Amino acid sequence: MSVNEPITSAVVTVTVNGTESEHEVPVRRLLVHFLRDDLDLTGTHIGCDTGSCGACTVHLDGVAVKSCAVLAVQADGATVMTVEGLAGEELTPLQRSFHEHHGLQCGYCTPGMLMSASALLAENPSPSEDEVKVALQGNICRCTGYWNIVEAVVAVGKGEAA
Ligand code: FES
Ligand code: FES
Repeated sequence: MSVNEPITSAVVTVTVNGTESEHEVPVRRLLVHFLRDDLDLTGTHIGCDTGSCGACTVHLDGVAVKSCAVLAVQADGATVMTVEGLAGEELTPLQRSFHEHHGLQCGYCTPGMLMSASALLAENPSPSEDEVKVALQGNICRCTGYWNIVEAVVAVGKGEAA
């Protein structure tokens, strides 16, 4: 390659949902497209592709980020968790609480909501209603009116989720 040739791809090593792998990716590929198209992790949704809706939220080194606002190459050396990585054999208390409190209708926003809420709960296991609202302010839901989602997250903190 000549020194003037633009760099169009790079090799990234990333641990996704506990599994480390190496991939050559176009340098302009967004993390959300890498997760969905290269790794088939389609639980991470795309609502806007402009950083506005939160449907694409994942954890990057434990921090909730909008994966449409991150390049795949920025995840090199990092740990990523998607909604597929949340539950083991059984649903998490947060997922069960969404179910019990009717925190979803169409479900399109739900993966992003769960990832933002789980990042909050990891940092603050018993958040107040206002703290939940602040943590979820970057996640848009067109269906629920939000209240049941907030209630579902608060209930986990109070130990009320089954
Ligand atoms: Fe990423 Fe909407 S798809 S914020
Ligand atoms: Fe439909 Fe939130 S449940 S967008």
